Parts: sequence; C-alpha cells; structure tokens
Amino acid sequence: MTKKFWQLSPAERRVLLVDQGILTQAQADFWSTQTTLPETVLLGLSENNIGQMSLPVGVVPNVQIAGKAVTIPLATEEPSVVAAISHGFKMMSQGRTIQVVKNIHGVTGQIGLQHVSASDLTILQDHQADLQRIGLAAHPTLTSHGGAIRQIQIKRVGQSDAAIIVTVDSGNAMGANIMNDILEAMARTVTQLTNAEVLFAVLTNDGRDSLTQLTVTVAFDQLTTKTWSGEQVAQRIQALADWAQTDPRRAVTHNKGIMNGVEAIVLATGNDTRAVNAAAHAYAAVSGQYCGLSHWHVETDGLHGEMTLPLPVGTVGGATKVLPSAQQALALLHQPSAVQLQAIAASVGLAANLAALHALVTDGIQRGHMRLQYDSLAVRVGATAAEIAPLAAALAAADKPSETLAQQLLSQLRHKGEN
Ligand code: MEV
Repeated sequence: MTKKFWQLSPAERRVLLVDQGILTQAQADFWSTQTTLPETVLLGLSENNIGQMSLPVGVVPNVQIAGKAVTIPLATEEPSVVAAISHGFKMMSQGRTIQVVKNIHGVTGQIGLQHVSASDLTILQDHQADLQRIGLAAHPTLTSHGGAIRQIQIKRVGQSDAAIIVTVDSGNAMGANIMNDILEAMARTVTQLTNAEVLFAVLTNDGRDSLTQLTVTVAFDQLTTKTWSGEQVAQRIQALADWAQTDPRRAVTHNKGIMNGVEAIVLATGNDTRAVNAAAHAYAAVSGQYCGLSHWHVETDGLHGEMTLPLPVGTVGGATKVLPSAQQALALLHQPSAVQLQAIAASVGLAANLAALHALVTDGIQRGHMRLQYDSLAVRVGATAAEIAPLAAALAAADKPSETLAQQLLSQLRHKGEN
C-alpha cells in the first residue's frame, strides 16, 4: 500500500514533491541542507546577536484556493497544527471550494500634532499637494513598484490637537517602512510650515487597508464521523461558532485556532507576525465586543463558512528578502503578489479553524494530539528516527503511556531488533 504524505520521512516527502514538479531539485536540496543563517544575515536582522534558533517547516500540498492549486509552507512549533490545516483543507476540498470575495492591500499612518491653531489647520489643508509631493520624494521607488499615496486627510483631534492621516497603496510590500519614511518626511515639512508640534509619526497596525474576505461551502459528507452524521456535525460547528460571537472567552480561543494557521504561513514567508496578530485581534473587537473572526452556518447544500481578516503582509522587502527560507517559501507559492498571499494566509486560517471546530464538536482535540505526543515522548526517551513510529504505536496501544513505560518499550524494541 502506498504511504500517505504524512507517513513519509522528510527526505521521502522532498523526493515526492520533486517528482510531482512542486519542488525543483535545487529547492529540495535547500530544505534538506539549510539549517543555519549566515552571520551577515543574522547581524542585519537583529542586535546583540549570540546565535539563532530553528523551527520545523511543513507543507500542505496541492490545496485549491480560488481555483488554483498551491502547496503551502508552514513554520510552527505546535504539534498538530500542520495536521489540522491539512484536515481542514481536505474537508473544504469538496463542495464550493474557497472563494475570495474581497482582497485589498494598503497601509495607513498618522502624524499626531499638538498645539495646532486654526490658521495652522488652514495652512495644512492648503499644502496637501506639497505634503503628497514630499511624501513621494521620501520613497521614490513607491510609484515605480506600482504603489501610490491614495489619500491624505487632516482632522482636528480634541480642542487643540490634529492628525494627518495618510493612506498608501504599498504595491507588494507590507508597507510599514514605506509609510514611516513618508510620514517622517511629511512631519518635517509640517514643522517648517506651521507652529504645530509633532508628537508622533507612525503607521497604524489597525490593518483594515489589507482586508481579505473568504467564503467556502463544505459538503456535509466531509464532516461525517463514526458517531455523528455530517448534518449533525455541521449543526454543532454552527453552534460552537455562534458561541464565539457572544462569549469573549470562547472567541479568543476560536481566534487563536485561526491564528495557528495564519501565523505559521506569515512566519514561513518572513512576514511580521506581531503586526498580523495585532490587526486580527483589533478587528475581532471592531464592533466594540471581542468576537470570533469566522462564521459558520448550515445551509441546504452544506456548511457555509465566512471570514474577513486584516492581513498586513508583503511579498517584497523586509525579512521576506533577507531570510533564505522565506524566499524559498515564496518560491514554493510561485512568488505571489501581496493580495495573493493574503488570500492564501486567510484560507490557511479558515482551514485551521474548521479543523479545530470539527475536532472540538466530535472527538475532542486531545485525540488528534495524542499521536504527536507519543512521537515526542519517543524522542524524549532517546528513540532514533527509525524507532519513533513503532515506539509511538506501542505507546498508543498501552493502557497508561508514560515516560517510564516508553523507556521500557524502547529497550524491548531494541532487544527484539537484536534477536
Ligand atoms: C489549539 O491550539 C487551538 C484550539 O484551541 C482552537 C479552538 O479551540 O478553536 C483547538
């Protein structure tokens, strides 16, 4: 019987992906050998460096997103995340697969001003075109990369403060550096033109200029388990998703499950995980109450899912350019544009969410975790790569698996091997 993808060794997976034309031989060689970053890269990325740490990178191959097949790279330290995403995509592979309803990309920033007189405000309004020109001059490559300053707004804040709010189309860049360069250049001009005092000039991580909305319809038969019919599971998933709309305690865990997937691809592609997390959780509270970011409803043709998520990511610049593994992850995704990466990352989040909700309303999440926990117990007691699978299987069959039992079973296994 041919083995499933998850049953292969990392080397066997790379060979299969090369055979399927998903990886080139050079890419496969990169993933098998690239374990450390060159010192020049380390020193360019952060300060006071003494070393580095590594994370596993897994893939979910051949996923359909908006009619296109993609193989998704995921970097995560949490057992079960890659398996859950794979399960989520499998359930979503029948019925009306993922549709991208909305996908915009941009970034907004603010210059906060104090002691702004009425005449200062008038001067600023009159000089909007100059501010735009100075902003563009601060980042001349913006327009050549397809970007633009979309809007400049000047708003009174309280009695004596004001804000200049700038929205930029950042092309395929995430846009934080572009935005901050533009704002700081504009702020210097504001100081020359007016008596107002600049308090700060920085982008907002609100993220609503990079919003992605997805829908999917999951066929009932994809949800069926030994105990529950597909319709019953769908009803239970709807009830659990509704729970996250009214109970913030549940909503934050629901959203953590979404971010398990989103963060793994954001990290793999060298994007800013903190920016994406900040934007997602702020958006979850946009109504004034913190809610689940996804919605699941039972319809006649299946379980209908919808999610709108801010995804401030980029596919050029920053760490995406510097980290060799991020470049390889983007190559695996066929060098997506920023909006394409947003759609893929949102899909990964929705798949992670569906798998989590499905597990919770059926077998519970621990069952899925157990296999990986047995694997890691096997590693902890010193099993070699070849011994992990048989030892984990023996632990799964045992009444009370423990570290002591794992040590005994490993000795027995080795003893048997000698005879
Ligand atoms: C675990 O990392 C994520 C879940 O708790 C998400 C959820 O409860 O929806 C399973």
